[in-house]
Amino acid sequence: MVIVLPDLRFIVAAEEQSIFSPAILSSSKNTSFDPASGQVSGTALAGPDRDRLRGAIARFSDSAAALVDNLLLRYRGRLRRARASFRPAEIAGRQTSWRKDDTRLHVDSFPASPVQGQRILRVFSNVNPEGRPRSWRVGGDFEAVAARFAPSMSLPRPGSAALLRALRVTKSRRSPYDALMLQLHDRMKEDADFQAHSEQEAVDLPAGSTWLAFTDQVSHAATAGQYQFEQTFLLPVDAMLDEARSPLRILERLNGRRLA
Ligand SMILES: [Fe+2]
Repeated sequence: MVIVLPDLRFIVAAEEQSIFSPAILSSSKNTSFDPASGQVSGTALAGPDRDRLRGAIARFSDSAAALVDNLLLRYRGRLRRARASFRPAEIAGRQTSWRKDDTRLHVDSFPASPVQGQRILRVFSNVNPEGRPRSWRVGGDFEAVAARFAPSMSLPRPGSAALLRALRVTKSRRSPYDALMLQLHDRMKEDADFQAHSEQEAVDLPAGSTWLAFTDQVSHAATAGQYQFEQTFLLPVDAMLDEARSPLRILERLNGRRLA
């Protein structure tokens, strides 16, 4: 499920308009902001322009935190604020590897930042100054998707998590859950039949709107659009009303063992 707040507009101030250019990117596709350190990365901007970008993302991050705090009362005090991003590149027509191609349906899983079973909740705002929508495709039920690809997924070998950690491929221990979610992300993206024929719906998120989704569970693809803010939150599964519906518990049922 995607919760859309069509009139909840995040305002980019007049003096911040310099962020509306893909030229602010360094090599990555997003600029990102770490609320813990207050640092911005992924941008070629320096000096006052960099400060303006940092200020805009920090303000979005605070707004998103206030939104979930007021909207999702059940999770109050349990959501942990992770990184935020500003995405100034046009998605449509961007050349990238299939694995990084977010125009293909996928669920989110972070290769370098394991979540150990926690939920990934994301808040997005489309701030396109020309009024263009952000176009998504939203896929079907997680359990059905996971069951479809379960036969092609395998549990990681003992010791591999420690090795990835030692080599600093991951910032913390990659649990069996994280390993399976990364495989699911990849199996979905590389399967042309799944991409073309699985249950899905096209949704246009208008400029000036905000939306929220558990992107570890909701299959999604962003097919077009430019200029979006995003804030990621992590939620322990025991904060859920029904944790049996979490990807962690669903994958545990499919595998017959604990995964995180
Ligand atoms: Fe995604």
